[in-house]
Amino acid sequence: MAMNERFLRACRRKPVDVTPVWFMRQAGRYMPEYRLIREKYSLLEICYQPELAAEVTLQPVRALRVDAAILFADILLPVIPLGLGLEFAKGEGPVIGKPVRTMEDVAAMRPVHAETDLGYVLEAIRILRGELNGTPLIGFCGAPFTVASYMIEGGSSREFLKTKMMMYSAPETWHALMEKLSGVLSEYLVAQIRAGAQAVQVFDSWVGTLSPQDYENFVLPYSQRVLAAARAQNVPVIHFGTNTATLLPLMKRAGGDVIGLDWRIPLDDGWALLGGDIAVQGNLDPAVLFAPLSEIKTRVHDILRRADGRPGHIFNLGHGILQHTPVENVKAIVEMVHEYLPTPVVER
Ligand code: CP3
Repeated sequence: MAMNERFLRACRRKPVDVTPVWFMRQAGRYMPEYRLIREKYSLLEICYQPELAAEVTLQPVRALRVDAAILFADILLPVIPLGLGLEFAKGEGPVIGKPVRTMEDVAAMRPVHAETDLGYVLEAIRILRGELNGTPLIGFCGAPFTVASYMIEGGSSREFLKTKMMMYSAPETWHALMEKLSGVLSEYLVAQIRAGAQAVQVFDSWVGTLSPQDYENFVLPYSQRVLAAARAQNVPVIHFGTNTATLLPLMKRAGGDVIGLDWRIPLDDGWALLGGDIAVQGNLDPAVLFAPLSEIKTRVHDILRRADGRPGHIFNLGHGILQHTPVENVKAIVEMVHEYLPTPVVER
């Protein structure tokens, strides 16, 4: 099977020769060739220059022989044309200049036209489709909850207190914000698909902070809108979150052909909660990549054994690659996944 068919076939739960594998944050600071580019350009400068973003996207494809490329960009780019300001401060992570706290702040958010305001992302996609030689390209956006949490908190958060206070104390402000944001994100994701993205992932990285009830009332309809808009373009849609063991059935209802699982739930248990009629992606703990190869192998094989050769498993980590991860261990995982042969059923 052509290496470049595996990923898209698995998203559709079609049989594959070997399990496809790629990694969230497969481009990044753990790679020396990425650090070399980062010496000269900031993260946003890389995103703004399509040739550079394309080059960084290709780095892990060349180095790791993964089955898919993920566009180099960031889930927070849409907050720039919304007029909120975005900086990546050293050691602090993202900082939003004008956080959204009131109904007036929501009303002041500028309209976004993905084709022009985020045209540099679309241009990177067009360049990549010419350079990828058939390796499928994944586009992405943040899910409304996770992006809204940065917009409200003003940056990263542990407790999501301001976000939850808007939900609980000013629900009309929350719903107005989510209404606008889900429209912007839907249009952005559809524009990426039209530019050539062959699959998309919607990152709801921090949604696991919510109870199922709050997810259903405050988040699900908006995620559903973004996921449905992408699905209408006929490309596979991956719906990802972490800490989601109690949210999985609701995430499935919100949408996606593939649901991302983190390492806190065994892959087969997560898949069982979702039912057999959907694909799954995951779910190695990114910290395991710092362990000796023998330990990595045990855990990679454990995940593959739990998937049990059923169509519709894409191997990945449960969250992004961590900063000081040894590149050779990432490479070794790709080989382990591609070389894995399911234990034959013993005839009795
Ligand atoms: O290789 C890829 O996965 C594609 C590129 C990508 C980036 N960000 C580049 C980036 C992707 C898919 C993202 C998504 C993203 N961005 C998420 C969702 C995924 C997740 O990890 O949960 C989130 C929450 C963000 C927001 C964000 N961007 C944070 C919190 C940070 C700072 C934390 C850190 O690692 O420093 C960023 C910066 C960022 N985005 C980096 C990269 C490679 C850091 C490296 C750098 O500064 O050069």
